[in-house]
Amino acid sequence: MGQWALAIDFGTSFTTVAMSVDGRIVPLEIANSRYLPSAVAMDAEGTLLTGPEAVQRGRHEPASAVRLPKRALVAGPKVRLNGRTVATTDLVAAVLERAAAEARSVQGGDEPGEVVLTHPAAWGDQELAALRKAAATAGLGTPRLVAEPIAAAVHYAVGCTATGCADASRIDLPDGGCLAVYDLGGGTFDTAVVRRDGAGFVLVGEPGGDASLGGEDLDERFLEMLEARAVDRDPAAWAEPAAGPAAQHARAVLRREVVDAKHVLSRLYTVDLAVPGYPATFRVTRDEFTGIVDGDLRRSLDTLTATVAGAGLDPAGLAAVALAGGSSQVPRVAELIAEHFGALPLTAPDPKSAVVHGALLSSTAGTAAPSADPAPSADPVPRRRRPPLDPDPEDWMPDIS
Ligand SMILES: Nc1ncnc2c1ncn2[C@@H]1O[C@H](COP(=O)(O)OP(=O)(O)OP(=O)(O)O)[C@@H](O)[C@H]1O
Ligand SMILES: [Mg+2]
Repeated sequence: MGQWALAIDFGTSFTTVAMSVDGRIVPLEIANSRYLPSAVAMDAEGTLLTGPEAVQRGRHEPASAVRLPKRALVAGPKVRLNGRTVATTDLVAAVLERAAAEARSVQGGDEPGEVVLTHPAAWGDQELAALRKAAATAGLGTPRLVAEPIAAAVHYAVGCTATGCADASRIDLPDGGCLAVYDLGGGTFDTAVVRRDGAGFVLVGEPGGDASLGGEDLDERFLEMLEARAVDRDPAAWAEPAAGPAAQHARAVLRREVVDAKHVLSRLYTVDLAVPGYPATFRVTRDEFTGIVDGDLRRSLDTLTATVAGAGLDPAGLAAVALAGGSSQVPRVAELIAEHFGALPLTAPDPKSAVVHGALLSSTAGTAAPSADPAPSADPVPRRRRPPLDPDPEDWMPDIS
């Protein structure tokens, strides 16, 4: 088997994995899905479980699971699981280890020639050091790190042409053309502007974002709205459920129902939800949902506008705004971008995979390199807490370490 490269986009809600094999990007399915839940749980023997197994355990025993280990990694070095103290880097390592093991087994046991990990643009040195430690614990050595919005930009600008698959969302950026990225995932929001520079890309200005805004927060708004309506209908039925596995399961089921309903509202205008304890369903309209998340989404647009302004551009100076992340599928996002930027954004058929594909396409050593540009300089991409770098053709921007 030829040399291959591995990219892992460790997300707040889901981890996506892709491989570059002989110049083609191959998405990895784990447990029949391209999206591995990022949850981690501990079983009775102290073994860490990941993916659907962790989600299933967490539904019944929340104290044994960390639903969002990416947020846990940022929050602190340790968590309590089943009464034991666990390093948050070990939680992340468990997810990375599973992703890599599944990919390796598809590649006949061969080790990847290169490993690329993505991270929120807003992460500073501390978070990046924690991610590196998790990667080392998972046996991944020293991976190349790429900021998520930059990977997404590469996905749109290089497109699947480099891998031979047709993708109508690819933009043909002329030399000097700029693209802004709006990446709203499960737990973080990232923005960046990139410019085509010859055969490569450079980051313009500083990436921006909000490390605590994502689909999880939209879910919380939805839950609060549903609670208010349920209490209004029958306060006794909503009364704080008793402790115990059945009540915990009911809460997990309600959260699942809310997430599914949110997804339905990206396609349809109404959705009916079942709420445990209530005999009749609750109808929620898209307008109602839009109303409760509008403030969050408008703030995200302000952040994007600030990132574009920080790059020295106004909306007319952009070739396009490109969407990434599952939550960018909320229809209000495209509406607001059209209002602010005068044109609808580019949307990939699978915006949840734009980052992991772009991470591979940004490879300078992998087989899907977009160009024969020079090797990257040591740390060309500015992160928060650092002064921005001047855009420089030598700054082969996707690569940071
Ligand atoms: N059709 C949809 N409409 C609205 N939201 C969606 C849709 N599909 C997925 N989502 C939301 O997208 C989020 C997951 O997106 P994604 O996998 O890109 O995030 P992540 O990589 O886990 O998180 P992050 O990048 O923020 O760390 C979830 O909150 C999910 O509910
Ligand atoms: Mg993501």
